[in-house]
Amino acid sequence: MADTVLVTGGAGYVGSHIVVELANAGYSPLIIDNFATSLPSMLPRLRRVTDRTIPCVVGDVRDLAVIKRLFAEHSITAVIHCAGLKSVGEGEQKPVAYYDNNVGGAIALVEAMADANVKRLIFSSSAAVYGQPDRNPVTEDAPLRPASVYGRTKRTVEQMLEDVSSSDAGWSIGLLRYFNPAGAHPSAQIGEAPSGTPNNLVPMLAQVAAASAPEIAVCGDDWDTPDGTGVRDYVHVMDLAVGHVAAMQYLARVPGSTTLNLGSGRGHSVLEVVAAFERACGKPIARRAAPRRPGDVASCYADPSRAQDVLGWRAARDLDAICADAWRWQTNRHR
Ligand code: WQD
Repeated sequence: MADTVLVTGGAGYVGSHIVVELANAGYSPLIIDNFATSLPSMLPRLRRVTDRTIPCVVGDVRDLAVIKRLFAEHSITAVIHCAGLKSVGEGEQKPVAYYDNNVGGAIALVEAMADANVKRLIFSSSAAVYGQPDRNPVTEDAPLRPASVYGRTKRTVEQMLEDVSSSDAGWSIGLLRYFNPAGAHPSAQIGEAPSGTPNNLVPMLAQVAAASAPEIAVCGDDWDTPDGTGVRDYVHVMDLAVGHVAAMQYLARVPGSTTLNLGSGRGHSVLEVVAAFERACGKPIARRAAPRRPGDVASCYADPSRAQDVLGWRAARDLDAICADAWRWQTNRHR
């Protein structure tokens, strides 16, 4: 009987790609999602990609009764916790909603897991916990100075999980700090489907390339970076998903709490990403200079060597692959 792995937020962008890789690796994924920031239409897409029906419970991780019932009704052996709110800008406007969803959800989940004696957990954390790093590439031991509400909710959950691990040696916990997830499954069946105007650069570029948006606003061209625009570490969502399977297998062997950067180790500026997207779509992308966004930092990219050492994982796909897959998803997603 394949291990049942609960993926909270499994109908979302990163969660759905993790579900695909879990299925490919022989696990039995089980999704819980409240569809607050995802679409039920992801489920038939997952069926087409995995050639199996992935069970999905519609529910909110903050609802302890719902979560406890999940553990009572399914032989869950591990959890990957992706459910949460993830917009840096929105977090500044709605701090209570972000703490309620991101921290409250994690508290309810861990309570239910402990109650069911299920103690293997991967938490979807973020490079946002670093804020503006003193130096790049960023190691996991860098100072943690989250510059946003979103980043502080992620760090708060990390601290809770570190304390859970210290209080009970039976837990195996992976804190995976995503840098900038981007791209889509090569089948173009699943990908990033932001509702309305995207916050993130790559889906915004896809909309400009598809003429769904007039131009890209380059948020700040006077940063302390080689070309003045923001530098980030774009990691293909498929590589991220593969990293979760590797972490799941590692946690089956190793107790305690392990923190890992999941990034490509390469920094690319906004203008470099625009140029890569132009190569992918084969047409020029209009852009305009715009003010910096509140909470933005100049440059942040990963040192992924610990993930390499511990998991044997490195990002295999580069920026051109990210843009090619993102563009294919943009042009095929409505089929
Ligand atoms: C990337 C770069 C912008 C849009 C956030 C979270 C992170 C993760 C990914 C969840 C920056 C610039 C962007 C635009 C632009 N969230 N930009 N014009 O802010 O680095 O990271 O999203 O997993 O945890 O912190 O990502 O894609 O919004 O921005 O110039 O229209 O592109 O200034 O330099 P960010 P992003």
